Amino acid sequence: MMIKLNPLFMKYWLREIEGKQAHDPIFMEKMKSLSSRCLYVPGPVIVGAGPSGLATAACLKEKGVPSLILERSNCIASLWQLKTYDRLRLHLPKQFCELPLMGFPTDFPTYPSKQQFVDYLEAYARKFDIEPKFNETVSQAEYDGTLGFWRVRSIGVKGEAMEYVCRWLVVATGENAEALMPEVEGMGKFGGEIRHTSSYKSGEEFRGKRVLVVGCGNSGMEVCLDLCNHNAKPSLVVRDSVHVLPQEMLGISTFGLSMWLLKWMPLRLVDLFLLIVSRLILGDTARLGLARPKLGPLELKNLSGKTPVLDVGTLAKIKSGDIEVRPSIKSLKRHAVEFSNGKTENFDAIILATGYKSNVPSWLKEKEMFSEKDGYPRRPFPNGWKGECGLYAVGFTKRGLLGTSMDAMKIAQDIQCCWNEEAMHLLHQSSPL
Ligand SMILES: Cc1cc2nc3c(=O)[nH]c(=O)nc-3n(C[C@H](O)[C@H](O)[C@H](O)COP(=O)(O)OP(=O)(O)OC[C@H]3O[C@@H](n4cnc5c(N)ncnc54)[C@H](O)[C@@H]3O)c2cc1C
Ligand SMILES: NC(=O)c1ccc[n+]([C@@H]2O[C@H](COP(=O)([O-])OP(=O)(O)OC[C@H]3O[C@@H](n4cnc5c(N)ncnc54)[C@H](OP(=O)(O)O)[C@@H]3O)[C@@H](O)[C@H]2O)c1
Repeated sequence: MMIKLNPLFMKYWLREIEGKQAHDPIFMEKMKSLSSRCLYVPGPVIVGAGPSGLATAACLKEKGVPSLILERSNCIASLWQLKTYDRLRLHLPKQFCELPLMGFPTDFPTYPSKQQFVDYLEAYARKFDIEPKFNETVSQAEYDGTLGFWRVRSIGVKGEAMEYVCRWLVVATGENAEALMPEVEGMGKFGGEIRHTSSYKSGEEFRGKRVLVVGCGNSGMEVCLDLCNHNAKPSLVVRDSVHVLPQEMLGISTFGLSMWLLKWMPLRLVDLFLLIVSRLILGDTARLGLARPKLGPLELKNLSGKTPVLDVGTLAKIKSGDIEVRPSIKSLKRHAVEFSNGKTENFDAIILATGYKSNVPSWLKEKEMFSEKDGYPRRPFPNGWKGECGLYAVGFTKRGLLGTSMDAMKIAQDIQCCWNEEAMHLLHQSSPL
């Protein structure tokens, strides 16, 4: 749904701003600076075709607002399709992971596999007729106060530049846009392979090898289990404390149970309950080298965003000695790793399960809504979704797909109000392609 920035549109656009600025030399200079490869998008431009971008486009569509998604890769949900391992399943029950306006098929299991989730997203995009523009990496977006529009620049795979002009900009590039690679002394010297979990697929290629997995979040724990299942010999670096909870308690998902308990009990009491039941089910994790943080799992999540690990079988492998826990790394040698306790051990490969970061500061030229430090909205949940001048953020709540759905619905509602007032007016007066 695009309109070329044609002379007729320009005429009405100029009329729209009451003719005042049309005589302003700075404004006229800006107009001339818009390149020939420039498209006016009447609705919002959404950056990113992951679950967040798709959910926002669907909610907008349902409200009669067209949108355009720009996606750097060649498919929807690229994180899920291209950067996750084979054995991945949703770790929360499906009812907490569905996007607005369309549930999961009833024959899907409680914890859908990665392929089932991708199939669901493909069906979702088809249902709402969402056709992102693929292979377009947004390299810069800034609000042009003189024009009163967002100017979004993208680069294609062959380096071709494009500019989009729009009234609303929705940031949907995700909390996991780039792999977080730590600096480790001697990294260049290590003779074996060093790989981030975003390019790990299966333990098959590590069969029989000694593999050091760095980081004990959900990725690190699950990759260790996968390595074990493929007869590799994994060790796990745990540099700090971590909350490991069973995925289910008393036959109910730990997440669902926590949500339900929070309706009746204060957060700290729910945390206490979770810790007692975890202790009964899992035993004392500190004895395995996984000391618990001082704050409870939900309180810690609320204050720092640190996600508790939901155990899917890794702990049993640590107990049995199939996975060994190691302290933080001091330095790397040609075939060995020296740990902070002074011990040195040989490894064939290192897998960095060290997490991800937002890439928003690298392309969004805006300092109010997003923090330059971590690329997240400055305002805490639930108020981080809306900025100034038609800027929005979806999927930055540190609350997974549930947070995505909440943001998407609020954004669509908010844009619809303005759309009804102003955008439709402009749309009717300009000529569609
Ligand atoms: C291994 C793993 C497992 C997970 N499991 C769960 C789970 O079970 N449940 C849950 O709720 N959450 C889970 N998550 C969290 C996950 O982030 C969300 O489920 C979901 O993918 C977030 O969707 P999103 O659209 O916000 O971000 P993403 O899925 O990351 O999508 C963002 C999109 O933006 C694109 N993009 C980025 N930068 C640009 C740019 N400059 N220009 C154009 N396009 C760009 C990316 O290519 C990507 O396609 C998991 C995360 C990981 C890493
Ligand atoms: N569906 C699923 O089952 C599933 C599977 C995987 C991931 N996920 C989700 O995906 C998101 C990302 O998870 P993730 O596990 O990839 O990342 P993460 O949750 O950010 O965990 C990264 C881990 O790496 C550690 N770490 C970072 N730098 C380190 C270093 N230099 N040395 C040692 N340890 C280091 C961190 O320790 P500190 O805590 O000390 O910083 C942390 O334990 C999360 O939301 C997660 O829940 C879900």
